[in-house]
Amino acid sequence: MSSAQTVLVTGATGLVGSALSAALRERGHEVRTLSRSRGDFSWDVEAGSLDADALEGVDAVVHLAGEPIAQRWSAEAKRRILSSRVDGTALLAGAIAGCATPPALICASGVNFYGYAPGREVDESSASGDGFLSEVCRAWEAAAKPAVEAGARTVFLRTGIVLSAKGGALVKMLPPFKLGIGGRIGDGRQLMSWISLPDLVQAYVFALENDAVRGPFNAVAPAPVTNQVFTKTLGAVLGRPTIFPLPRSVVKTLFGEMGKETVLADLGVRPKRLQELGFKWAQPELEAALRAH
Ligand SMILES: NC(=O)c1ccc[n+]([C@@H]2O[C@H](COP(=O)([O-])OP(=O)(O)OC[C@H]3O[C@@H](n4cnc5c(N)ncnc54)[C@H](OP(=O)(O)O)[C@@H]3O)[C@@H](O)[C@H]2O)c1
Repeated sequence: MSSAQTVLVTGATGLVGSALSAALRERGHEVRTLSRSRGDFSWDVEAGSLDADALEGVDAVVHLAGEPIAQRWSAEAKRRILSSRVDGTALLAGAIAGCATPPALICASGVNFYGYAPGREVDESSASGDGFLSEVCRAWEAAAKPAVEAGARTVFLRTGIVLSAKGGALVKMLPPFKLGIGGRIGDGRQLMSWISLPDLVQAYVFALENDAVRGPFNAVAPAPVTNQVFTKTLGAVLGRPTIFPLPRSVVKTLFGEMGKETVLADLGVRPKRLQELGFKWAQPELEAALRAH
């Protein structure tokens, strides 16, 4: 492995951050956590305050914090989703720019950067798209500009649906599937770009330990699947039928705009840049990834 680094992690209390912090420690890196309430250092994004010594001696900042996306998008929720990411990134980027030797910034982002892309596959060279989440991702990445301008190595991991039995989308899907009342969503033809949690953790480790990783990277499995395939595979893994489709209209009623931009989004995202740099997925196939949980 590369030499040990001191890494400041935001969102270390979350799904990705807790798994990543453990993996980084296992690889000999020193992890310091930055949290609103439960970390080695604290910050208050809304107030624009950050412990003065949080970045002292830090080689890299991994920035995962942000208001949960999976909630009903009231005007206030949308404000928190956007501002927690944009203001949090701006706060860190400003602090990084103020360091004599600016640490690297490895920042989460989402595949929703590409907006709606029905019927076409996208990679990192594709343009950003429409929708609220696309706007969030653009503003989130743009907020890192002071760090980029200060010469910090800056990476954005545009992440797909993270599969883990510990949290996130899969945990929300499992109850109906386990009861045998799961099924495809809408017509099931929409592409889902996913990644297993262990592979996402390794993508962050790869980004941290490789200087060649700079700019946007799609953090997804090599091949997206349709919702129909995802549904059938999850049913097969659980040994349950999947004969109850969830109509688009019900999704829209239950989840509103959030449902349209997440479970109904049709996004076939390819991890071209990770592949070019030789990243190896431990779980490139959906069935194996689901069985591992
Ligand atoms: N999970 C996915 O499927 C997925 C997909 C695409 C992108 N991502 C992105 O990857 C990042 C990590 O995802 P995750 O699933 O690990 O998230 P998570 O479990 O929701 O954890 C995010 C962390 O952010 C902090 N946080 C929450 N609300 C906040 C707010 N209003 N202001 C400031 N900080 C706040 C919390 O840490 P403290 O309480 O310690 O402050 C929390 O533990 C997120 O930015 C997410 O949008 C995730």
